[in-house]
Amino acid sequence: MAKNAWFETVAEAQRRAKKRLPSSVYGALVAGSERGLTYDDNMAAFSELGFAPHVAGHQATRDLSTSVLGIPISLPVLISPTGVQAVHPDGEVAVARASANRGTIMGLSSFASKPIEEVAAANPNTVFQMYWTGTREAMVQRMDRARRAGAKGLIATLDWSFSNGRDWGSPQIPERMNLKTMVSFAPNVLPHPQWLWQFAKTGRVPDLTAPNLTPPGGEAPTFFGAYYEWMQTPPPSWDDVEWLRREWGGPFMLKGVSRTDDARRAIDAGVDAISVSNHGGNNLDGTPATIRVLASVAEVIDGQIEVVLDGGVRRGGDVAKALSLGARAVMIGRAYLWGLAANGQAGVENVLDILRGGLDSAVLGLGHSSISELSPADLVIAKDFARTLPQVQNDSVHTDSVHNDSMKTDAMKSETKESAS
Ligand SMILES: Cc1cc2nc3c(=O)[nH]c(=O)nc-3n(C[C@H](O)[C@H](O)[C@H](O)COP(=O)(O)O)c2cc1C
Repeated sequence: MAKNAWFETVAEAQRRAKKRLPSSVYGALVAGSERGLTYDDNMAAFSELGFAPHVAGHQATRDLSTSVLGIPISLPVLISPTGVQAVHPDGEVAVARASANRGTIMGLSSFASKPIEEVAAANPNTVFQMYWTGTREAMVQRMDRARRAGAKGLIATLDWSFSNGRDWGSPQIPERMNLKTMVSFAPNVLPHPQWLWQFAKTGRVPDLTAPNLTPPGGEAPTFFGAYYEWMQTPPPSWDDVEWLRREWGGPFMLKGVSRTDDARRAIDAGVDAISVSNHGGNNLDGTPATIRVLASVAEVIDGQIEVVLDGGVRRGGDVAKALSLGARAVMIGRAYLWGLAANGQAGVENVLDILRGGLDSAVLGLGHSSISELSPADLVIAKDFARTLPQVQNDSVHTDSVHNDSMKTDAMKSETKESAS
């Protein structure tokens, strides 16, 4: 009898992804930077928060729906854009179908392997993500194309600082996939026949180009070509953020906020939403977990624009915790990538169902009838849990050293990081 493809937790999806994917592909998804302090803290910080459930008086029906960027969604979980290739032949189209079937928003990375036209056709609630890369003319062309394809919003991700190198080793990724590179990667790929078979059935090798960055009349750049252009582009100012926001004209999210002063500037720049994000721990290592800085950012925003959070979300309970501390919704990255690797479109649906079920249990146990009723009173929050950036308090030196110690412990635990073996 065939093995049941359904899985009950995201952790199980990750175990299956690890088994199924060649180690270089799996390693590219785990990613993280340097010591992995932020990567670990994103998840560990959720475990530090507890719940304060009721024993009776629970609600028979619970409303988990909301809207982000003016788009109604059936659960407060969005697909965060990830520029990863080679996980599954259907790639982002499978993720778009799954998110459409589960009633939520698809965030498509400009470094994705599938063109925006195909993705937006699979999920009409697709939002396009861009980095600050290339000339302004090129950025305008990319935005025009996304708009024509039907993208309902733009995510500008500006937190990247090209921090590379990780203590557990970076995966080897070829410039282009062709027969020659497939052969040289054979020792890595051959022990994963299911993954290879999925691609073999489609008659295609994994695509390592970025079709959403294709210049008019030109060819899609390779992933590395696109990365090089990005590295060569002078970083954006706040005036550039305003320019991008104006050029796009529609619903606009700034992704990558950790600091309260940046949150204020984002309001001034006229954005509609921010994501409290540290790029899933792939950026400046040592940045605190997003869930630790969320409340301080949400307080400054004070309902003027929307606040979402991404980083470390692996359970429905994590979603409830983020909403209790001021997020309108969360975005997920690796959680759906594990699902996609484990079981394609159905695997992504499976992950969204797990998060929905876990969130519903939390809302039930906490005695609410809607996610809008979640508040800090639903949580058990240790005194030294939260962080405010920039750090201004005089007693912060002590708080910070406690925090750094706990980060070190996490880092030591993760010497055996899920990627390494
Ligand atoms: C493999 C990988 C690729 C990513 N690529 C992008 C990207 O192209 N654009 C972007 O805005 N964020 C990118 N991210 C960051 C995610 O959108 C998101 O912020 C992060 O994954 C959230 O953390 P989580 O994976 O713990 O859920 C990437 C993350 C990963 C793990």
